[in-house]
Amino acid sequence: MASLGCGNPIAVADLRKGERVLDLGSGGGLDVLLSAKRVGLTGRAFGLDMTDEMLALAQRNAATAGATNVEWLKGHIEAIPLPAASIDFVISNCVVNLAADKPAVFREIARVLRPGGRIGITDIVADDALTAEQRAERSSYAGCIARALTFSEFRFGLEAVGLTEVSLTVSHAATEGMYSVIVKSRKGLGVGLESPTEAASVQPCGCAGGSQ
Ligand SMILES: C[S@@+](CC[C@H](N)C(=O)[O-])C[C@H]1O[C@@H](n2cnc3c(N)ncnc32)[C@H](O)[C@@H]1O
Repeated sequence: MASLGCGNPIAVADLRKGERVLDLGSGGGLDVLLSAKRVGLTGRAFGLDMTDEMLALAQRNAATAGATNVEWLKGHIEAIPLPAASIDFVISNCVVNLAADKPAVFREIARVLRPGGRIGITDIVADDALTAEQRAERSSYAGCIARALTFSEFRFGLEAVGLTEVSLTVSHAATEGMYSVIVKSRKGLGVGLESPTEAASVQPCGCAGGSQ
């Protein structure tokens, strides 16, 4: 049940008993199962993925682990199939960079988080100085990095949908000018979603997997 991620969002997630966690692009489900243990039987961990193969693998892994407080959802992280304000913590491990419509992902994160909810995401992020061409070059060299945002784009994308206390911390270099980064943020208490600005350009992605 290997992780295909680029970091360890669970390590930075201060999950509490009884909380509801959502993993965007849950793959084989490792981070969902680890989260499920942390939130305990009074909490719930949801894994969202767009591929039947990954969801089937995650279900097998959950059965092997004997996890009962987990739920697997089929869908896209650009249109999360959960109600507004239903999640305490959003995690994701190396999937935001794969999304075709990143502003939609940020809007959806803000929508499903309850006021005061938090995020702990690991992703590949590019130096602000890299041009789009340089990012594309390095992406094909480094493997499955479809279209990494820059540090500024990531921060602005989250702030544009009303998330606060955004921090991006480099954990290690992925390739020249691109890094595995831990992104943390929270939704303010009493914050609603106001018309978010377009934070990042939209790029189609033909990449469905990843490597570590
Ligand atoms: C690099 S793997 C990471 C899997 C998992 N997070 C891990 O750490 O092992 C990417 C996963 O995200 C899923 N994925 C990619 N783009 C997606 C999207 N737009 N919506 C939902 N799932 C997506 C893929 O099907 C795949 O399972």
